[in-house]
Amino acid sequence: MEYVKLSAEGGVGILTIARPAALNALNDQVIRELDQVLDSVDLQQIRCLIVTGEGEKAFVAGADIGQMRGLTKEQGEAFGKLGNDVFRKLETLPIPTVAAVCGFALGGGCELAMSCDIRLCSETAVFGQPEVGLGITPGFGGTQRMARLIGPGRAKELLYTARKVKAPEALSIGLVQGVYPVEQLMEEARKLAQRIAGNAPIAVRAVKKAVNDGLQADMDQAIVIEEKLFGSCFETQDQKNAMGAFVEKRKPEPFVNC
Ligand code: CAA
Repeated sequence: MEYVKLSAEGGVGILTIARPAALNALNDQVIRELDQVLDSVDLQQIRCLIVTGEGEKAFVAGADIGQMRGLTKEQGEAFGKLGNDVFRKLETLPIPTVAAVCGFALGGGCELAMSCDIRLCSETAVFGQPEVGLGITPGFGGTQRMARLIGPGRAKELLYTARKVKAPEALSIGLVQGVYPVEQLMEEARKLAQRIAGNAPIAVRAVKKAVNDGLQADMDQAIVIEEKLFGSCFETQDQKNAMGAFVEKRKPEPFVNC
C-alpha cells in the first residue's frame, strides 16, 4: 500500500490516509487502497477503528481535482460510484469507527469523516463541501449524509454556499462530537476508541447495526430490528459472564468476543 496504512494497538486499529504532498487528496488509487485495507481489518482483533489523515494540515482535502478535471459524464459517474461503494463499506463496517480530523476536511474529506460513526477534530479543523464552487455536486455521499447528520436546512445552506465551517461551529451543529488541541487529538481518539473496545464487542456491533439499520426504517420496523439484535446477545458468552458476575457480586471476566 502506498497511500493507506493500517496499524493496531490492542483492540484499536488506526487507518491513515497518507498522501501528504497532496493534502491526502483522494485519487482512484487512494480509494482502491482504502477499499483493500477495509477488507483486511481483522474484525476479531480490532474492536474500534480510528480513521485519520497524515500530518497536521489536512485530514483529507477532497477528491483529487487534477484527476477529476478531464472526466466525461460516464467517468464522473463511475468515479462517484467507486467512492460511494468504498465509503458505504466504511459506514457499514461491523465495528465502530471514529474519524480523527486534524486540519482540512473538504469535499471527499468531509464525506469520509461523515462515513464514520463519530467525529473528533482539532481546534484547527475546517470542514466543508466546496464542490459547487468547482462546478460539481458532492460525489461521495455528501448530499445524503450531511442532511441526515445536521438536518436538511443547515446542510443545504452549507452545500449551496460551499461555506467552510471551523471547529467550534462544527461542534455546535453536531457535525463533530469533540474538539481538542492538535497535540491532544489522537490521544483523545485513542481514549474514546479504547473505551469502546473495552465493552462487549458483539453487543457494541449490535448497537451499531441497530442504529444504522433502524435509521433506514420506520419506527415499527426499527424496534423489531432492535428486538432481534437484543435477543441475539443472549446467545453470547460475554452476556452470560457479565450478567453472572453482576448477580454473583464478583468481578466480570474480560470480554471474549463470543
Ligand atoms: N486535489 C488535488 N490536489 C490537491 C487537493 C485536491 N483536492 N487539495 C490540495 N491539493 C494539493 C495542491 O494542488 C498542492 O499541490 P502542489 O504542492 O503540487 O501544488 C498541495 O496539495 C498543497 O495544497 P495548496 O498549495 O493548495 O495548500 P494551501 O494551504 O494553499 O490550501 C486548501 C489548502 C485550502 C485545502 C487548498 O489546497 C484547497 O482548496 N484544496 C481543494 C479543496 C477542495 O476543493 N476539495 C473538494 C474537491 S471536490 C470533491 O471532493 C468531490 C467529491 O465530493 C468526491
